[in-house]
Amino acid sequence: MEVNSIYEGDNLEIMSKFPDKSVDLMYADPPFYTNKRFEIIWKDGAEKRAFEDRWAGGIEHYTAWMEPRLRECHRLLKNTGSFYLHCDYHASAHLRILLDKIFGESNFRNEIIWKRKTGRGETQHKSKQFGVCTDYILFYSKSKDSKFNSQFKPVSEADDEYKEYVKKFYTHIDKEGRKFQIDNLASPSPRPNLTYEYKGYKPPAYGWAIEKEKMEQWDKEGRLWFPANKKGRIRRKRFLDELKGQPIQNLWDDIQPISSQSNERLGYPTQKPVALLERMIVTSSDKGDLVLDPFCGCGTTIVAAQKLGRKWIGIDVSPTACKLMQKRLRKEFSVSVHIIRGEVDLNYVKKLAPFEFQNWVITDKFLGKVSERKVGDMGIDGFTPQVLGGYPIQVKQSPDVGRNVVDNFETAMRRIGKKKGYIVAFSFGKGAIEEVARIKNAGELDIILRTVQELLDGRVD
Ligand SMILES: C[S@@+](CC[C@H](N)C(=O)[O-])C[C@H]1O[C@@H](n2cnc3c(N)ncnc32)[C@H](O)[C@@H]1O
Repeated sequence: MEVNSIYEGDNLEIMSKFPDKSVDLMYADPPFYTNKRFEIIWKDGAEKRAFEDRWAGGIEHYTAWMEPRLRECHRLLKNTGSFYLHCDYHASAHLRILLDKIFGESNFRNEIIWKRKTGRGETQHKSKQFGVCTDYILFYSKSKDSKFNSQFKPVSEADDEYKEYVKKFYTHIDKEGRKFQIDNLASPSPRPNLTYEYKGYKPPAYGWAIEKEKMEQWDKEGRLWFPANKKGRIRRKRFLDELKGQPIQNLWDDIQPISSQSNERLGYPTQKPVALLERMIVTSSDKGDLVLDPFCGCGTTIVAAQKLGRKWIGIDVSPTACKLMQKRLRKEFSVSVHIIRGEVDLNYVKKLAPFEFQNWVITDKFLGKVSERKVGDMGIDGFTPQVLGGYPIQVKQSPDVGRNVVDNFETAMRRIGKKKGYIVAFSFGKGAIEEVARIKNAGELDIILRTVQELLDGRVD
């Protein structure tokens, strides 16, 4: 397990190699069960590709896929560790049952509701349901010994509600000009050992809330309020300048989603705001702790962890996402991070999503550039680097590619006026090979057929 690294591959396989009880905090934001197809539009507009979030087998299929991954998350957590699972209404109930089973009901901490949309949400004008503007974050701990650093929402002087509150409660001012309110100092239950007289003031019926030493200390610090009448009760001063703010509750409506105007926006369709991750990280970990995100996307978790002085590991199955994370870390922290990949063999390449396959061939192997748009839809997916001729490349993630593919590619090459080009596939049929030979013999164009195995062996010429 290499900390501060990005792992590229299936998180189940990668996590299974990590040791038990090695992680302090995990945040998982898996593909939701939404039956939707997202379009990835990277910021530079260079790539527009599909992002699948589709579970043909229904919810059981989804939970069966999630279960072993959630079990791995549980295994990796230390006893003091915490787990946050981000989901939405499609699957939250199912995931809650599953997590209760894995973590134990008593380790359920909260269902956090994040208001991820402002305004009217998704309600259409004539819809017969309420708009949806929330996601859920299911929060579990590994045991009762989990870390929890309470968080407070800072109060804002400009907030009208706050101004009213101060006016109503902070009605006293001490000699130094500090505003305070007075609060009860009586014990709520009988405390015979805390029943003592102080400076001539009788104790309340159940005694004081603090011991005599503490009473003396608070007195010295000016934290006690003594009524003029000795028959009255001593009270505690709560100073306005020591008000930490309101404790954070499970409704998180103060963290803005990534909008088209957000500075942090990278164009990754499911990108979460850094502030959301920061809240979980400061709550459930300390500096130097290890944070792991098994569905890391464009790296929001690792950016927040790096910012807050935590160690981190990000895992994503998408090579494009991993490269984006690497770029993001370099840009934001000037750190260069290593991507750890499992073995890249035929099996790995076969399983890549179509756009990932294309990126692998064109950018990883040919060091070229993926076409911004399909060139006239003539099947040109990218080009070799300009210094190496800028030749067109067509990519087929299939075996036994036939003559018609070669013919179409030949037409496309003629149209753009290139004399050389590459077609990449798992294998080529006899028709394709003969056609390429015929075209070459005619002496005008050079079409090179490259198999994926040849690319794996380093042949890109
Ligand atoms: C909802 S997105 C995460 C977004 C992320 N929280 C962010 O702020 O960018 C889910 C991610 O899970 C990745 N993913 C899907 N299946 C995976 C698997 N089996 N192993 C690792 N990553 C996976 C997808 O590539 C996608 O990037």
